[in-house]
Order: sequence, then C-alpha cells, then structure tokens
Amino acid sequence: MVGSESRYQAFLDTRGREGLKRELVEVEARDARTIRVVGKTYANFASNDYLALRFHKALIERAAEWAKAHGVGSGASRLVTGNLDLFAPIEAKVAKLKRKPAALVMASGFQTNAAVLQALLDRTVLGAEPLVFTDRLNHASLHFGCQAAGVHQLRYRHCDAGHLRELLSQYQDDDWPKFILTESVFSMDGDVAPLSEIAALSRAHGATLVVDDAHATGILGDEGRGLSDNADIAIGTFSKALGGFGGYVASTGMVRDYLVNRCSGLIYSTALPPPVLGAIDAALDLVPGMDAARAHVAELAKRFRDGAKGLGLSTGASTTQIVPLILGSPEAALAMSGRLREAGFWAVAIRPPTVPAGTARLRLAFTAAHERSDIDRLLEILAEEDVPRRASAM
Ligand SMILES: Cc1ncc(COP(=O)(O)O)c(C=O)c1O
Repeated sequence: MVGSESRYQAFLDTRGREGLKRELVEVEARDARTIRVVGKTYANFASNDYLALRFHKALIERAAEWAKAHGVGSGASRLVTGNLDLFAPIEAKVAKLKRKPAALVMASGFQTNAAVLQALLDRTVLGAEPLVFTDRLNHASLHFGCQAAGVHQLRYRHCDAGHLRELLSQYQDDDWPKFILTESVFSMDGDVAPLSEIAALSRAHGATLVVDDAHATGILGDEGRGLSDNADIAIGTFSKALGGFGGYVASTGMVRDYLVNRCSGLIYSTALPPPVLGAIDAALDLVPGMDAARAHVAELAKRFRDGAKGLGLSTGASTTQIVPLILGSPEAALAMSGRLREAGFWAVAIRPPTVPAGTARLRLAFTAAHERSDIDRLLEILAEEDVPRRASAM
C-alpha cells in the first residue's frame, strides 16, 4: 500500500486541479420531490425516480410484507438456494411488460450489463472474437461488459445510424458473430437512439441487437414498456422509473438458459433480497396503468426545454425526461449547480470523463413528483443568471 498510496493521492490531486474531483454528499430523502442537505431542503432535479415510485405506498407495503414473510436476505445465489419462489412471477411480469418470451432478474443494472455482456460476447462460446458495434456515448456499464469480455469495440458516432451502416459494411463479408449495443434513451443527454434504423441494420447484417432500456422502461413506450421492442436482447434496471433496485434481461428462453449457465454475475452473486423483490413486484403491477404520470413528466420536460430554448440555452438533443443544460467547462457546470442550490434546487454537475470534454452540464431529470411551478421557478432563475448561451454552449 505504501508505494501505491502516493499514486492514488497524485490521481486525486490531478482530479482536484482539473475541477473533476468527485465527493459523496450526504443527503436525507423523505419524499420523492425534495432532498435535504445539511439542514436545507431542495427541489430534487437529480433523481431517476421518474414515476415517483420509490415512496409509493404500494411498493413500501409490499417490500415490508415480503421482508416479514420471507426475510430480509435471500441467503444464497439463485443457483444455490436463493432462487426464491418470488422470482418466477416477477420474471413473468417483466417478460410481459417487455414483450419478450422470457426474462431473468439479476442484481443492479450495472452488474447486469457487466455480467450479461461478458457472457454474450464470450469468444470461447462464439468460436471467434465477436465484432461489437457500440454507440460512442454508451453507459460505463456497457463498456465494462465489453472490457470484461476482452472485446474490441467498433464505436460509431453517437446515434448515427449512417456511421453504423458504414462500419458494418466494412465487415459485411466476414461471418464473425456481430453485436450492436446501444442505450435507448441516453442517460446524460436524454436523446433517443434511432432504434428502427439500427434494428433494420442489425437484421440486414445478421447481428444481435442489445438495447439498454434503463431510462425508457416505465416512463416511455406503450404502457411504459420502454423502447426495446426491436431488440433481440433488452437489458434494464428497476432502479430508475420503477423506483426500487435490481436489473433484468429480457429475451428468449434459450438466452435466459444460456445466462443461467454462463453469466458470472448471476451464478456467483447472492440473489436480490425479498424486500427489494416486493418493491419490484408492486412497481410492475402499477407501471402499465401510469399513463397520466408519464404524460405529466413529458409535459414538464417539454415546458423546461421550450423555456430554456427561449433563453438561448442549449439542452442538446433531449426529447425525454432527462434534459441536459450544456455549459461547456467543468467550472461553469459547478458554478451553475452552486447557484441553483442557493435558490433551493438540487441539480448535479456532470463533468468529464462521464461526458465528453467541453460538454460539462447540469443533468436535470423531471419526475412525476414535480409541478409546473417548479419548472417555471427554475427557468426564472436561469433567466437571471449569466449562463453560457447557445452560441458558445457546445
Ligand atoms: C444506461 C444505464 N444502464 C445501466 C445503469 C446501471 O443501473 P443501476 O443503477 O441499476 O446499476 C445506468 C445507471 O446509472 C444507466 O444509466
């Protein structure tokens, strides 16, 4: 440790100098709309709880009931004795919501991406190193899965189906296994991948299309089923619009069987605990009927985007409940986050390496717990501030 410590410290010092050092800020959460930090209450615009389900009575009650009835832990991995009788009905509900023949519930969304991709891209099973085409702005967990599988990624420009087509055509005569990996809604930009075009390319090139539907499931698509209809394999999480915790993969029964046999994150990790499963189960019951909440969130996000546009601010290509306010430098993003805090709004500055250099931003996420008046007040404050305007924003 002695030798390594100075290197870790040097890393931290560099991050500090570049304005990129991260800190864990302690917050108190008592409801879906606000958080308290050091005794002050803020309107929370930094939560992925898009449907405001994490404080929903039905989720809390079922979590408590299942804890009482089944214990607070699952005791073992699903392949040992942790495959509680609670999983099968939940997986049937996930498969139904995602319109896929089968589903498999795993630990966090990150762990699902990391472990499922490692298994899907396993060259010892595929017989050759797969060609893996990925959107340049894919989430860290998708990169991690590729790295775990030891594959080289062929990265296409963000949401650029034309560039993907070019890259695929360079390999059209190769019969190596091909995969395309994309998010549906991008977590830091709130824009949507051109999924119909990508799916058509995937079919034309005999590729397997894997879509991470983390930020669409529950909040977008018919009955909140997300945007992964065209995917061969849909991955997602219960930690965002579904208000709880945990990950899933939805595909065919055969893919499910394969993962049960090959996916390290399922085989060697303790199954999700009953209270968490209870919350997932209740959320899955509620989500299809939450059209009014989905419409409310979409309206709030549009109101903010329109207002920001009127102020000459850049919200990138967002069309969803995630709206970035692109400010450029890390310092500008931190300063704006600080000024909003003074006014009682909690919005987090997102800086490189999470987003590309020069595009540091505030990431605002709108949820069913927000009101129109929250958006209007936010816009009023932005109107008063000396914010980098659109011309210099990107
Ligand atoms: C696109 C995407 N995939 C996966 C994850 C990971 O999900 P979880 O938070 O459940 O680990 C996230 C969350 O940050 C995400 O944004």
